[in-house]
Amino acid sequence: MSEEKFINQNITPKNTSINQKGNLEISGVDLVELAKTFQTPLYVLDYETLKQMALDYKKAFSNYEKINLLFASKALMTSSVAKIIDSFGFGFDVVSMGEIYTLKNAKVNLDKVSFNGNNKSRQELTFALENKINRISVDNFHELELLNEIAKEKNIIQKIHLRIAPGIECHTHEYIQTGQIDSKFGFDLTKIPNAIEKIKNEYKNILLKGLHVHLGSQIFETKVYSDAVKIVLEKIKMIKEDFGLELDEINLGGGLGITYTEEDSPPSVFDIANVIISSIEDNCKKLNLNKPVLYIEPGRSLVCSAGVSLYTIGSEKNIEGIRKYIALDGGMADNPRPSMYQAKYEAAIANKKDSIKNEKVTLAGKFCESGDILIKDIELNQPKAGDILCVFDTGAYCYSMSSNYNCALKPAMVLIKDKKAYEIVKRQSLEQLVQNDVILDID
Ligand SMILES: Cc1ncc(COP(=O)(O)O)c(C=O)c1O
Repeated sequence: MSEEKFINQNITPKNTSINQKGNLEISGVDLVELAKTFQTPLYVLDYETLKQMALDYKKAFSNYEKINLLFASKALMTSSVAKIIDSFGFGFDVVSMGEIYTLKNAKVNLDKVSFNGNNKSRQELTFALENKINRISVDNFHELELLNEIAKEKNIIQKIHLRIAPGIECHTHEYIQTGQIDSKFGFDLTKIPNAIEKIKNEYKNILLKGLHVHLGSQIFETKVYSDAVKIVLEKIKMIKEDFGLELDEINLGGGLGITYTEEDSPPSVFDIANVIISSIEDNCKKLNLNKPVLYIEPGRSLVCSAGVSLYTIGSEKNIEGIRKYIALDGGMADNPRPSMYQAKYEAAIANKKDSIKNEKVTLAGKFCESGDILIKDIELNQPKAGDILCVFDTGAYCYSMSSNYNCALKPAMVLIKDKKAYEIVKRQSLEQLVQNDVILDID
């Protein structure tokens, strides 16, 4: 692994510093001022960090001539984010009609989009076909039949990938492992011949272009990627020999991990790219196959380090000798990851001059669940009511997983670019919260 630290290996965004006022700032924008202007909780996204990571991805895979980089929208999807990532030359992996619609709203060209998911509905598949989505990653037999039927009605030959479960376990949280045998996603390896037979003989409105795997998320090992390449290429060889179908595309999904806390040591995108590219070359040589078009779908690693969340500290509860709780004005509704899968974060008080960490506290959210703890046992600079807390690495799976639990209003999101802050998502209003409620006339 290389010595130099890359974006996904750093806890803070690229240009994070303490300014003359003693406040934390990112790319020249004071976070305390941001909190004052836009209120808290607030999602903040740094353009420069995002751009650097996108450039690193492009550079890392630049010596593979047939590369398609897709951003996994599930990590973070808003219309401005879509537009920015599109401007970096990425396509998109989507998993819902809503994500496709958001891309349309951002006027993103949908011919760079791949549609994933284990239970796409008739409505969603129809919407995808009507919008000329480039590839559909078909997850199961039910979907093969449904998609063929819809494509036939529309007189379309739809290009697809077949999502397979490669039987690879990676050491990440069980909720974010997806490549193992016992997974809800993808065709079992043993079912591939049956699926190919059906595609070849029955489903004339489907054109199989390649195979798709996704191993899981927050992955720290590189070997799982070379294992995946080997399995996928061996299956492509089997399909060629046994069925006479030549598949020329592989999609290896996303999964590259990031450094949330000092405990984490993910490889860089360059490490992952080198492993993938050399594994493709070796296996293609061994199996006498042409090098396929390669799709990669990073989510977390592309956007996570660019994001921080700001909160205002409120009440506290000190249980002598046991624990001191410090409560924030947000929590599991804007960031469900700690309560969902014990995710860990680093944080700092944005308005304290020095970086002396001299009090161990537990940061509690404000929602009505005892499990709504954002960070357990963190050392901070004597946090007090009114202080602004900055939680790092919240760019992925926070806004996109946020909810209206306890009728919380979803926070705003600002983008820092050229030393200015632009509101890219407005804070939800009370009126928006109830806009879909229907009040029954009950006597
Ligand atoms: C099919 C697929 N591709 C890509 C991703 C993105 O993964 P990550 O955010 O870990 O890069 C996911 C995440 O669950 C996924 O399911």
